[in-house]
Amino acid sequence: MAARQPVSLHERLQKADGYTRENVGASILQFLDDEGIPIEMVGKAKIFMQGSKDADGNMQAQALPSIELAPAWAAGPQWPVAEKAKPVKIPKVPSGRPVAPGGFNDIYIVPDMQVGYRRHKGGLVPFHDERCMDLHLQMIRHIRPQHVCMVGDNLDFADLSRFVREVAFVETMQPSIDRWHLFLSQVRAIVPDAEITWIEGNHEHRLPKQILENAAWSFGLKKANTPDDWPVLSVQSLCRLDELGVDYKEGYPSAEKWYSDHFLGIHGAKVRSGGSTAAAYVKDESISVVFGHIHRKELQYRTWRHARGRYETFAASPGTGARVDGGTPSVKAGVKGSGKLPNSVEDWQQGAAVVRMDADGFPSYSQIDIRDGRAWWGPHHWESTVDMFGNKMAKTA
Ligand SMILES: [Fe+2]
Ligand SMILES: [Fe+2]
Repeated sequence: MAARQPVSLHERLQKADGYTRENVGASILQFLDDEGIPIEMVGKAKIFMQGSKDADGNMQAQALPSIELAPAWAAGPQWPVAEKAKPVKIPKVPSGRPVAPGGFNDIYIVPDMQVGYRRHKGGLVPFHDERCMDLHLQMIRHIRPQHVCMVGDNLDFADLSRFVREVAFVETMQPSIDRWHLFLSQVRAIVPDAEITWIEGNHEHRLPKQILENAAWSFGLKKANTPDDWPVLSVQSLCRLDELGVDYKEGYPSAEKWYSDHFLGIHGAKVRSGGSTAAAYVKDESISVVFGHIHRKELQYRTWRHARGRYETFAASPGTGARVDGGTPSVKAGVKGSGKLPNSVEDWQQGAAVVRMDADGFPSYSQIDIRDGRAWWGPHHWESTVDMFGNKMAKTA
């Protein structure tokens, strides 16, 4: 059977018996029907009539038709745009553990989580390890800290990266924002009175940077007559931080959270090889510091000469909550043309930390190790109830 020859709209109109409203309309409808284009897809149909003289000098009318396939729905675009996370209501979950005695303050450190997704076969594949999210909640419930400190790169914002952006990153910002907001809501429900701080990392900073570089007109834009609100396209607004009572420290790379005169939380921008980033910090900082960014567990101490005799500080990185199997985009992790991830091993370690500050504000650091969905902290041990992708684990007898 011979293949059907498409007949253009222009040809149809030329064949029509005069450019009457009925003829034009019928030709357009027939064209759409023949080409299998639903009428809802048509934004505009335009016919320009052009007059020109033929060889005998007589005026001839010629139609120049065009159809714009565009969103025809009245309520605006149907593709998702980044918007505030959906509000969630989570009942408060009281902890069974008493508040730290003797004027101590516990600060639970949530390291770089890199929350984000790839789209694959209609689903979402996380960059972050859902087991770490689950373990953080279990441990915060047990430890019941007075402070929770997210040290930055908690949202990955891969679609805003200056590095190669994969096709699979498209339309993943919204689910990433929603997922991280859900986690923050759960933390708030577990420790309703805790001070929760989120220090901006280079990944969160991608948002204001992109806006300034590519759409400066929208920087700082707020809803009408809400001068005290956060800008619409800000991390604070998108993640509903005011509603959750989360203090966002912006201004990467100098964003910081001072817990006392002796202890500071930062995201940091230093990366040294061979486990020496903490050594660089402990040399440069004259107070104790917890930092993120390197996704590795490091801890270094230093004792300084001081008027009172001696002064001890540390610099520590608690690791990451990102996937360590190459599933998180990085300068070393690639992706095949098929969308599959090649096997790769990052020199990253998963973890968390607790910093206990005494009544004078002097901090002590203790590392929490996380491996393969299990966490260890001193004599304590926790197991994730979900797998890396967030699927509930079957209970073993
Ligand atoms: Fe970072
Ligand atoms: Fe990071």
